[in-house]
Amino acid sequence: MRMTELNYEPMVFPPLESGTIEFSEIQKEILQLKKERNAIILAHNYQIHEIQEVADYVGDSLGLAYKAEKTDADVIVFCGVHFMAETAKIVNPNKTVILPDLEAGCSLSDACPEEQLKAYKEANPDLYVVAYINCSAGVKALSDVICTSGNAKKIVERVPKGKEILFVPDQNLGQWVSQQTGREMQLWPGSCYAHVLFTFQALKKIKDQFPEALIVAHPECVKTVRDFANEVCSTEKMVHFCQKSSADTFIIVTETGMIHRLQREIPHKTFIAGPTNTCACNDCRFMKMNTTEKLRDCLRDLSPAIEIPEPIREEAYAPLKRMLEWSQ
Ligand code: 13P
Ligand code: SF4
Repeated sequence: MRMTELNYEPMVFPPLESGTIEFSEIQKEILQLKKERNAIILAHNYQIHEIQEVADYVGDSLGLAYKAEKTDADVIVFCGVHFMAETAKIVNPNKTVILPDLEAGCSLSDACPEEQLKAYKEANPDLYVVAYINCSAGVKALSDVICTSGNAKKIVERVPKGKEILFVPDQNLGQWVSQQTGREMQLWPGSCYAHVLFTFQALKKIKDQFPEALIVAHPECVKTVRDFANEVCSTEKMVHFCQKSSADTFIIVTETGMIHRLQREIPHKTFIAGPTNTCACNDCRFMKMNTTEKLRDCLRDLSPAIEIPEPIREEAYAPLKRMLEWSQ
């Protein structure tokens, strides 16, 4: 790669001025509809700030799964991607679960079609399947236990010692967990299209400009990026790490929406977006399909709603429940 390709200014988010949030008209409509529908809005850390501001809870996949399991609202509005809303429906079959854009998918989920996993399991019947939560309900139904980036190490450590593990669908997270646990695993060859765009070369260039900054990377990144990072963790753990650290500046190597959450929680510190070879920041095109207009409309129409055939939902529930218990 030619270094001249890294031809952009770093995206730096300095400490925030304190102030109250002025809701826009559309945000006010969302809050009103939420009350009328007895709905809860769950938002992933990568959502745009206007959505994070009206959410009842903003967090990582693990925190969101627990919130979905515990809520007594009638309607769950899931501002994230399809597999996350599906997870909420798996634990809440009798609730209405909606998401602003049904097309908001995930490249990891797409990398592991249910039929391919089924065929692989038929050819290798003794495998113990650990599925990263970024997969379809059909894949969850074929798995023994689910994990998220926040609990993957803990979950893999609980798998009975004699079992050979197949980890699906993220080879990068799987490789990282394997390093952490010392447990060999077969890795499904999937990856997150957005996280694999972060490169060591681009990071090194930013680090040279901000030598005091600590690098915090998501485990979906490739090994050279993870190895260069000071901390590798889930998006929720990034908040705790940056809060507790004595450092003032952090390079955040994950989707850019994360920086809004960090700024809200830790307004006095500076965050720099993780760079790729061609851009100073990196959005997930699926996460960014959700807009405030679509959020308002889905609350108004209670659509698009998630539906899962009951036999698949039941089979997907068992490994998900196992994860929620193992990760307490
Ligand atoms: P977290 O569970 O760490 O938030 O990750 C979800 C995700 O999709 C990362 O790309
Ligand atoms: Fe999927 Fe990657 Fe987007 Fe996360 S960032 S939702 S893993 S495509």
